[in-house]
Amino acid sequence: MNNAERRIIICAGTGCVANGSLKVYEEFKRILGEKNIPVTLEFKKEEHNHDGIRISKSGCQGFCQMGPLVTIMPQEILYTKVKPEDVNEIIDTTIIGAGIVDRLLYVEPATKKHCTGPNDIPFYQRQSRTVLKECGFIDPESIDEYMSHGGYEQANRAFTKLSAKDICDEISFSGLRGRGGGGFPTGKKWELTRVQPGPKKYVICNGDEGDPGAFMDRSVMEGNPHSVIEGVIIACKAIGADQSYIYVRAEYPLAVQRMRKAVQDAYERGILGKGVFGTVNKIDCEVMEGAGAFVCGEETALIASITGKRGMPSPKPPFPAQKGLWDKPTVINNVETLATVPLIMKNGAAAFKKIGTEKSPGTKTFALTGHVSNTGLIEVPFGATLREVVHNIGGGVTDDKGNITPEGFKAVQIGGPSGGCLTKEHLDLSLDFDSLRSVGAMVGSGGLVVMNHQTCMVQIARFFMQFTQNESCGKCVLCREGTQQMLALLDDIIEGRATGETLKLLETLAWAVQKGSLCGLGKTAPNPILSTMKNFRAEYEAHVFQKRCPTRRCKALCLPVIDAAKCKGCTACVKQCPVGAITGERKMPHVIDASKCIKCGACIKVCKFNAIGI
Ligand SMILES: Cc1cc2nc3c(=O)[nH]c(=O)nc-3n(C[C@H](O)[C@H](O)[C@H](O)COP(=O)(O)O)c2cc1C
Ligand code: SF4
Ligand code: SF4
Ligand code: FES
Repeated sequence: MNNAERRIIICAGTGCVANGSLKVYEEFKRILGEKNIPVTLEFKKEEHNHDGIRISKSGCQGFCQMGPLVTIMPQEILYTKVKPEDVNEIIDTTIIGAGIVDRLLYVEPATKKHCTGPNDIPFYQRQSRTVLKECGFIDPESIDEYMSHGGYEQANRAFTKLSAKDICDEISFSGLRGRGGGGFPTGKKWELTRVQPGPKKYVICNGDEGDPGAFMDRSVMEGNPHSVIEGVIIACKAIGADQSYIYVRAEYPLAVQRMRKAVQDAYERGILGKGVFGTVNKIDCEVMEGAGAFVCGEETALIASITGKRGMPSPKPPFPAQKGLWDKPTVINNVETLATVPLIMKNGAAAFKKIGTEKSPGTKTFALTGHVSNTGLIEVPFGATLREVVHNIGGGVTDDKGNITPEGFKAVQIGGPSGGCLTKEHLDLSLDFDSLRSVGAMVGSGGLVVMNHQTCMVQIARFFMQFTQNESCGKCVLCREGTQQMLALLDDIIEGRATGETLKLLETLAWAVQKGSLCGLGKTAPNPILSTMKNFRAEYEAHVFQKRCPTRRCKALCLPVIDAAKCKGCTACVKQCPVGAITGERKMPHVIDASKCIKCGACIKVCKFNAIGI
């Protein structure tokens, strides 16, 4: 094996950095130096010129929960939860020797099998990593490395060999649908913008990603920023734009930094700026930090934000394709959509269409979180089922202590605050734009939160409602006031004040907010309520009519009960109870009168014998 092939890749995505991966990186450099093992830190165009083992950082490798991750190439050994104190052993055993540090391998919980790398880890085996293929492998800060993998060849081809119409046709034929949530056909959007009159047009890359729990776009920007820029450049050629913006959430400092470096490097190589690819064309690109509001991801609000105005949506039509940034025709695409474009151009639309379903071709990244054994960033073809995602990739549903429970699956919340909750019945539903919409959910941004039987669905609806209520920009009365009122009604249910009228009112209000709001935030805000009310009606009714929370998560609905076997009759609870609900003789088991109890929990706190539970 020559040195050019030998490589140590340390994940430097946000998750692994937070767990200390940069210290692991520094430790590798330090100890390899001490042992006089030659090291190359920078990628050189000619691989055979590498005169040492290459150490590089990468973007997110997907398996964040097991981070910091270290991959040793070419054997593709994946070490998990690596600490600086493990580095010496890795070097002695795997770099100098040819062995494996067994204790740092991933152990599959169900079979206890020690897996050596992605090829035998079920989390990776069952995925189709296409957009994410190079995320977690290439150095995101090296334009040379991106180019050594064929990077910017498609942008070059777009400028030197293809017409704008050719590109729009290829993307239309591929059937690519926008990954930003709505699933609008990308080729159609480009074609609409291309045919608009006038010389000035814009391309905007939407990297706002404000959905709670989502980090797909962040990972692509951090892990392979040049793929996003290449998509932006191809979009510019396709519609005839010479100026582009990459709008990145300000809360993503690493993504902002890596996108900025990538843009600067692309300028230095003449890939951006004047005379791109030896033509007379000019393409400018600016990275802008978002304004920190979820609604700024909505395209008209985003346009307002770029122009320095408050990020508030405006009515459509006119659509941005007709009248967008500074009233000029503008294409707005999601990060993942744009990162997919160079792949389509490279492999051809026909190849792209072979993956996924007929109406939702290609793959989709999801942020898989919640009660599953393996959480992280995943990519599957459209048409994969929830069962495959939850059981095969996620490794099964876990209880609150993290142990796998075969009967544990209750629901999955898909698509973030715009999406809905699906149940066991939907485990074999095809994950694609249209199937999800038909059952009241959405692909949305790609958040996928798995929930076990200990989860209260009313509280889940409340969590998302609290988010949208906080994020409503306040322009529409129905969104501004309606989300507030829906939240108050959910509180009534959770706190035991609700009646049958509350449920009716909640449904009527949800319908009204959906109909009467201007933008997608308000229009989809009721989705988590409507889908949980539809799929978990009995759970709502138990809260409302029996004043009982079946999962015992809503404290106000959980009546304390004294366990007679444990009660010593010490009377401490009697003295503590503010409404005199507890009675009993000294040294005899006590009882709580349910009609008097106000469920304040004071007795539970005071009982030294752990005799009171809910
Ligand atoms: C409240 C709200 C927030 C949104 N946030 C994002 C976002 O963060 N990123 C994104 O790409 N699209 C977001 N969208 C969708 C965009 O408005 C737009 O449809 C999308 O960027 C278009 O790109 P695509 O065609 O590639 O999907 C949001 C929409 C709404 C209503
Ligand atoms: S629906 Fe809500 S977020 Fe959207 S414009 Fe109206 S008030 Fe603002
Ligand atoms: S405090 Fe506990 S042990 Fe004492 S009487 Fe009350 S329930 Fe029984
Ligand atoms: S950040 Fe390292 S695996 Fe995701």
